[in-house]
Amino acid sequence: MASTTASTGSSSFHNTHSNNYEKMASNCTLSVAKIALTDPIFNSFPITPSSYILDNACGTGIVTSLIKSRQPNVRVLGADLAPGMIETYKEKTARQGWENVESKVVDSRKLEGVEDGVFSHVVTNFGLTSGTEDKESTQKIAKEIWRVLGDGGVAVVTTWAERNFTDALAAAALSIRPTEKPFAWDIPDEWARGSWLMKQLEDAGFGNCVTVKRVEGRMEAASLEELVDNMMGVKDVFYKGYSEEEVSRLPAVLKEKVRNLKAYDEIEESVGIKMVAWVGFAWK
Ligand SMILES: C[S@@+](CC[C@H](N)C(=O)[O-])C[C@H]1O[C@@H](n2cnc3c(N)ncnc32)[C@H](O)[C@@H]1O
Repeated sequence: MASTTASTGSSSFHNTHSNNYEKMASNCTLSVAKIALTDPIFNSFPITPSSYILDNACGTGIVTSLIKSRQPNVRVLGADLAPGMIETYKEKTARQGWENVESKVVDSRKLEGVEDGVFSHVVTNFGLTSGTEDKESTQKIAKEIWRVLGDGGVAVVTTWAERNFTDALAAAALSIRPTEKPFAWDIPDEWARGSWLMKQLEDAGFGNCVTVKRVEGRMEAASLEELVDNMMGVKDVFYKGYSEEEVSRLPAVLKEKVRNLKAYDEIEESVGIKMVAWVGFAWK
């Protein structure tokens, strides 16, 4: 029987999938970043021309694009462990003509070469729980966020409370292989709690200067067919070892399972799956 659990989106997964990451994400990380970066707490630490922002575990630069749309000249560092992600980030920087943007392949657990207290804002959008091989990684990342944030600065850290789309992936797996336990990411249950995120930030050094909010994000596409096609981007992880014939049956089955999700919705010109996130704000 195939292995049924594995680490969630490690940097090597993201490295291989840097080109289709945004298609797979289907705006889910963007939807939460938009809420976080317009929250009154974040806005009480205004981005000014002298700000310096770390897009931590930046991926393809979803957070950077939101920041640049507001403050085109602000200085940003995009940092990610996956070289493929940084390559895509650099291409986007050039394509968008972003000024004052640097990028760096670096581990969020140890931000080598980054001095203490240099940033006014540190945004870690779904980067805290991205690697599960190292169960100590989350506290290491949180401590580095605290270290590189300057006095008077704010950090934003997001995590998932409810992914929901994984239920459809698992249900589709069971339809195709009824006797096999579906693949699941090896994520400790407590990582989905708001109290856990708060503790990570408190223990990292922020003490009582922390707030955590529950928000609703959404994975979305123009049609159900497109959404399923985007989700099939994870097939080499969720349906590893499936035959070509089994994979060819998946889209139709997955479509049905997505439509049956309680979190599925159709709004105006789009279809989507609601996802719930925690947004942590911590300040120095
Ligand atoms: C879920 S993606 C989030 C990307 C982006 N922040 C967004 O909002 O869409 C997680 C990112 O964390 C990166 N990552 C995983 N482990 C890392 C580590 N130890 N240090 C730095 N980046 C890491 C992955 O390469 C990936 O780009």
